[in-house]
Amino acid sequence: MNNLMIESLKKRRTQYALGKALPLSPGQTSTLIQEAIRLAPSSFNSQSSRAVILFGEQSLELWNIAKEALRKIVPADAFAATEAKLDAFAAGAGTVLFYEDQNVVKGLQEKFALYADNFPVWSEQASGMAQFAVWTALANADIGASLQHYNPLIDAEVAARWQIPASWKLRAQMPFGSNEKSFGDKSFMDDLERFKVFHSAAGDAAAGEVRKYA
Ligand SMILES: Cc1cc2nc3c(=O)[nH]c(=O)nc-3n(C[C@H](O)[C@H](O)[C@H](O)COP(=O)(O)O)c2cc1C
Repeated sequence: MNNLMIESLKKRRTQYALGKALPLSPGQTSTLIQEAIRLAPSSFNSQSSRAVILFGEQSLELWNIAKEALRKIVPADAFAATEAKLDAFAAGAGTVLFYEDQNVVKGLQEKFALYADNFPVWSEQASGMAQFAVWTALANADIGASLQHYNPLIDAEVAARWQIPASWKLRAQMPFGSNEKSFGDKSFMDDLERFKVFHSAAGDAAAGEVRKYA
């Protein structure tokens, strides 16, 4: 079975070896990222996800902020490894900062009190969907990326540097760039431990594979 989405999903991998030679212009890359987030679903179509897209020196600045914040808390003898990791993110072409607007979450909680407890959870899920959409769209354009979480350590400084609205909550950072190394093999757990499929008694067996459970 050939399926474009599955082919794109196969292309999306974690890439730490990033370079600056993007196959798209910064403008095209930024449009791709925005389109992926725009098209990602959100609960009640609330569109709570926000993004800040940093290219070139702006991205370097971000990873410097992270480096200086980590220098204060990572033991000196372990810092070289941390620094090397951050330098690899900074070696890319840019970084996407994923935010969720807490004003949207609060507004939904007030409007639909019955679901009040769910909205923060759904906002996190919406962010995951937005992150995944961007990651997959970038991969489909032969742009490598990884997913990082230096929040909340860097939140205040990042907010001050790029005038981020107070209601935006930083959820993830995605450094991206050219793929400078090939991807290693990835292991997958046994499907039988992961999925349960129940077909109707008659008819479906002929339509596709039916797994048998012992
Ligand atoms: C919710 C989530 C959080 C993640 N957080 C990190 C992270 O903080 N740092 C990191 O290097 N990778 C992070 N990853 C990437 C995973 O480690 C990676 O996707 C997984 O090992 C599978 O490898 P693949 O991306 O090559 O398919 C995260 C992935 C997900 C879905």
